[in-house]
Amino acid sequence: KVRAIADGFRRRCATPIEKLQRLADAMTDEMHAGLLLDGGSKLKMLVSYVDNLPTGDEKGLFYALDLGGTNFRVMRVVLGGQEGRVVKQESVEVSIPPHVMTATSDELFDFIAQALKRFVDTEGEDMRPSPGRQRELGFTFSFPVNQTSISSGNLIKWTKGFSIDETVGQDVVAELTKAMERVGVDMRVAALVNDTVGTLAGGRYNNPDVIAAVILGTGTNAAYAERANAIPKMKGALPKSGEMVINMEWGSFHSSHLPLTEYDKALDIESLNPGDQIFEKVISGMYLGEILRRVLLKMAEEAALFGDVVPPKLTSPFILRTPVMSAMHHDTSSDLTVVGSKLREVFEISNTSVETRELIVELCNIIATRGARLSAAGIFGILKKVGRDTIQKGDKKKSVIALDGGLFEHYTKFRDCLKSTLTEFLGDEVSESVTIELSNDGSGIGAALLAASHSRYLEATE
Ligand code: BG6
Ligand code: GLC
Repeated sequence: KVRAIADGFRRRCATPIEKLQRLADAMTDEMHAGLLLDGGSKLKMLVSYVDNLPTGDEKGLFYALDLGGTNFRVMRVVLGGQEGRVVKQESVEVSIPPHVMTATSDELFDFIAQALKRFVDTEGEDMRPSPGRQRELGFTFSFPVNQTSISSGNLIKWTKGFSIDETVGQDVVAELTKAMERVGVDMRVAALVNDTVGTLAGGRYNNPDVIAAVILGTGTNAAYAERANAIPKMKGALPKSGEMVINMEWGSFHSSHLPLTEYDKALDIESLNPGDQIFEKVISGMYLGEILRRVLLKMAEEAALFGDVVPPKLTSPFILRTPVMSAMHHDTSSDLTVVGSKLREVFEISNTSVETRELIVELCNIIATRGARLSAAGIFGILKKVGRDTIQKGDKKKSVIALDGGLFEHYTKFRDCLKSTLTEFLGDEVSESVTIELSNDGSGIGAALLAASHSRYLEATE
């Protein structure tokens, strides 16, 4: 019975390359539809108001706030122009208490503003901006936002573990600014960016061949530089650069070709955002461990995988985190001792047989492989959209995708599978033309760079 459940699960999760091709095509089609008009697709294809990516000329002291990953971060970045580049960085990381993620808007933004205040209060004299100059901030806010300018935008919906109804529809920069006034920090938000947009900016700063950025962390998403005249829904004069960065919000991609199982469907229905973010729910770090828990629970209930009594902890949603799943998946010991000890720690299940542990590693592999291959299909969809999918041998042009997020950084088998699937799409001979680069913490620096290029003191600096 256990075998039958595992085999059924494997079949339903299968991602042969033909299926992935259809998904990449669907991604490209949805990109076109989302660029045509607002609401034209499940893919929001949000205009970021970033029409110039960093050049390296950026100068001065800027701050960055990063909300929406595992940790909330505050950074100070000193940009030294072409000669100096990034000369100094300091940061603090704070985890957001779970109750703040679902509390009130004021509580969330006060929490952020207080962390910011603590950060600037400990600055030495030499770290402060010149007299008469207000501190400026790049705000990385990793949720879908309808931007109304580079420094304002209304929250469309929360994703991942956040859920505060009253913030939806509000300008998140106004919310943060009010909170900064309440707690007494004098700072101006110069740029509001999604983490993908920040990562693209940070990636481009380090490497001019970067064309897109992808986040694979708690959530998943992508941004890329699009030709401005390929965005029919964009109103007003076209930017001088001829380009516009688009935040795809690919987490909400959906297609009938997606390999979904009964576990995915149940996870979705019981989630904070049912019916939403389906692509994200089969790929990203917030969900992979939870999918595994659901399969194990079914095996415990219907096939007594862990004995006659279903271990109570196995019924607890989100108790199995993806880093734990990753540790089990990478267990190289002959009798899988890591798997054994994780089962004990997380579920209080002891004395598992080696066969059971092997089965668990197999399930980890099915889940991670599906997620990684789907991410590669998404990336290939972007390459198709920008005309970099059919590369000829000898083509010297390089296209780099900047990647960030804990899932990509720490889950080696996921990362390796993503890369090899991309090679499967492109063909061995040309696969060095398109490369993936870890752009660790690029989004904080990216936000600071974008704050610099939208500084109100720009003329004075030049
Ligand atoms: C960080 C970026 O490195 O990765 C963030 O700076 C991003 O902006 C984060 O949100 C995503 O990773 P995770 O794994 O913390 O969700
Ligand atoms: C979620 C958010 C998106 C963000 C991504 C990665 O999908 O909606 O804005 O970029 O997570 O953090």
